[in-house]
Amino acid sequence: MTEPPVAPVPGLPALAGLCSLDAARAPALPVAEVVGRLKRLHFAARRVHGLLLFRLPSEPLYELKMLYSHHAYLCAEITAALRARVAEMREPPLGLDDPPPAALAQAFDEVASAPDGAHLCLGLYRVLLPALDTAFEALDRDVHPLADAPTRRLCRHARLDLADVLATGAQAADALAATLDATPDAWLDELRAALAAAGGLDGTRDATASAPAPRYSATPRPFDPVPRRDARFPDPYNMAVNAEAFLYEPSYPPPPKLLMLAYKRLREIDVPEMMASIIVETPGKPWAYSLDMTRQLWDEARHAMMGEVLFAALGVDWPSEVPVNFTWSLGLNTQLTPLERHAVLYFIEQGLMPKLGKRYEWEIASQTDLPLAATFQDYDWADEVLHARIGRQWYVSDMPSHTEALRHGDRCWSRVLMGWEEWREAGLTAHENWWPALYRAACARHGWPVDPAVEAFATSYAEQRADLKSVSHSA
Ligand SMILES: [Fe+2]
Ligand SMILES: [Fe+2]
Repeated sequence: MTEPPVAPVPGLPALAGLCSLDAARAPALPVAEVVGRLKRLHFAARRVHGLLLFRLPSEPLYELKMLYSHHAYLCAEITAALRARVAEMREPPLGLDDPPPAALAQAFDEVASAPDGAHLCLGLYRVLLPALDTAFEALDRDVHPLADAPTRRLCRHARLDLADVLATGAQAADALAATLDATPDAWLDELRAALAAAGGLDGTRDATASAPAPRYSATPRPFDPVPRRDARFPDPYNMAVNAEAFLYEPSYPPPPKLLMLAYKRLREIDVPEMMASIIVETPGKPWAYSLDMTRQLWDEARHAMMGEVLFAALGVDWPSEVPVNFTWSLGLNTQLTPLERHAVLYFIEQGLMPKLGKRYEWEIASQTDLPLAATFQDYDWADEVLHARIGRQWYVSDMPSHTEALRHGDRCWSRVLMGWEEWREAGLTAHENWWPALYRAACARHGWPVDPAVEAFATSYAEQRADLKSVSHSA
């Protein structure tokens, strides 16, 4: 017996919900034209990623370092999605590295060479990134909703991230503009004119005659790997308090260890500073490398911000109570090659895996009455497992063996000169032991009994124990 045919149900979504039948009847952009636009968008997203990292170490403002870490990661994801879509569109050879029109490149070169952080921020968030978003919006509108549904989806997802980037970037640009005597409107107009000379960021408009003469990119700005910090880091060479020696001392109770965990997390500002320098100074890698490394860079920025939040939860005003140093990124960025920096990063992160590592930090946090600390350490630990994979894939794979990869990292780390004595002699720091005052204030705030042994902690990084060397930093 045959079943009766199923009657169509009125009102079901047509065309898998992509659009109406009517909307699908109009022809739209050919594949070649979409690929051309995707390549322009790819160039823009990749350049923004690159120039954010290019400026990250030398940008002194803490909030901007964190914001740029986030935005660089989002741009890396958008770039990856664009590359993947171009590769699906009958394209090999992909031509993703072909040079763009000179006027388009000039707009991005100008921002990369901007004379200060305010110009950089204004150029990025008032001109380049709004133009990128507009180009995605136009592509979303212009592609065929059925035939090119994958590109539409890509545009819509990219614009979700770009909406966050533009909103927070505009806030940053407004804040920095308020610090200037006058906003550099003439220069911002020159950037717009350069885009116009290229037919718009996506090349969909008639190109205007010529771009204005380059202003700042006439002499390209060199990469500056030296980390800079703002006034909330008044003693950045201070290495008086060995956080690891304190954390791993079994006789100390967990609550004061929260202060050291917060310090260790916040100090991770130097990992994005260091990783940005690796990515910028390691050209020629596949995009998967940049994507993975930028993801880790962003994770490390989040770890730093978890430290900021932990200090706030503990009632600590860290800029006045805790001298967070930058000696690690300073040493690595100025004394080692990019591959050697990666070796040190991997060596240190491997040291965080065994007993005295991430699990231990989570256990300590879990033994306190601050559940937020356990939440943060739990994720810090999980992120570390991802970072170990990234290290194996992009560092260890370039070495003869895992053992040699670790040995090389150990050797490079040992070679980095921490000028404990020299910095003191040069008057850069007195290496003042800030621990007792921080501890006493926290005891008063939280009603912890003052333990004289804990208060007397005075181990600095000058007398670092050999068994703590691999974990004498957190990444
Ligand atoms: Fe890490
Ligand atoms: Fe980290």
